[in-house]
Amino acid sequence: NDCEAALKNNDLRQSLYDAGSILMEKVLVNLHGEEHKSRRTIEGLLFRRSFFRLYEAEILPPLIEATLARLIDSDPNDLKDISYRIMLHVSLSFSGIDRLLGTDEESEELNQLLIRLGQAATLGQHTGDEHDRLVANIESAINEFEVSYFGPSRARRELLVARVKAGEMSEQELPRDVLTLLLLHQDKLNLSHRVLLKEIAFYYLASAHTSVHSLTHCMYEIFSWLNVTGMPVAELLKDQLLLQRCVHESVRLHPSSPEAWRVADVDTAIPNGCNLKAGTAVVIDLITANRQPEVFGEDANKFNPNRARPSARNPTG
Ligand code: HEM
Repeated sequence: NDCEAALKNNDLRQSLYDAGSILMEKVLVNLHGEEHKSRRTIEGLLFRRSFFRLYEAEILPPLIEATLARLIDSDPNDLKDISYRIMLHVSLSFSGIDRLLGTDEESEELNQLLIRLGQAATLGQHTGDEHDRLVANIESAINEFEVSYFGPSRARRELLVARVKAGEMSEQELPRDVLTLLLLHQDKLNLSHRVLLKEIAFYYLASAHTSVHSLTHCMYEIFSWLNVTGMPVAELLKDQLLLQRCVHESVRLHPSSPEAWRVADVDTAIPNGCNLKAGTAVVIDLITANRQPEVFGEDANKFNPNRARPSARNPTG
């Protein structure tokens, strides 16, 4: 309850990524209040039900099939690597970054950029003495991303948006991605080149790393559970609802970030009677919250897709 109240408290602002400001400053997840609302309202125009249907029904199945077909004979096959190969394409496509060559070398370069950019999200948790080297590495990754990918992708979309504004083509013909949407609404948002670059780099890393993490845990949990229960894979695949419950259950047990961090923007309180002075740091322990027996049942620590759904709670925690 306390975690939920803290997450819903608008006086607490995001602070998990403060140390990664080199990339994360002014990106959606770090915005607060009106600034957050106005950017989110526009970006939300992309993430409609029809968009997810398109991905689920038309884009993902052939992409996964083609990726697996290429890897089927490689040995060893690592699930994390396979997931990155799939998410690379999906994340670029969501974000609005064009692949210019489509070669394996380009995929490898983009994959390396993804890993280097991703370091920005966890800089705050770095405990070693490599901080300055990491920051320099992230900075050069941002610059490479800008020159090789973001710049050409922005230029192409700007031409298309100009044609829409001139009445030469319809909005429906535009690419469906975050970058196009932001360019289309630049008159309201007025984002600088640097902020646009960071926002798109953030989308690229936020969609990929989280999904790869979740998918890898999920496959491990599902196959372990099938081993214990003796249920054949084919039977599970026929039961789409159970399959979805498996995904929810795995995301609950393995949140993409074990903690959420917030800081009080002004003096505030949460319903357990805890008063927070402005500037107080709040750590929300998602792993523990998602395994509360009072909410999820006595076996909350276990993967059990058949568990009774907690009332008025998200099954994913
Ligand atoms: C299984 C996959 C995913 C998981 C587990 C996940 C998890 C999360 C979590 C926990 C947050 C909130 C962080 C916080 O408030 O402290 C978040 C925010 C966000 N995620 Fe994801 N995510 C996933 C996939 C994606 C994908 C595919 C995209 C892009 C298409 C994406 C884009 C974002 C954005 C833009 C935000 C910021 C939202 C805002 O502040 O309004 N995520 N994600």
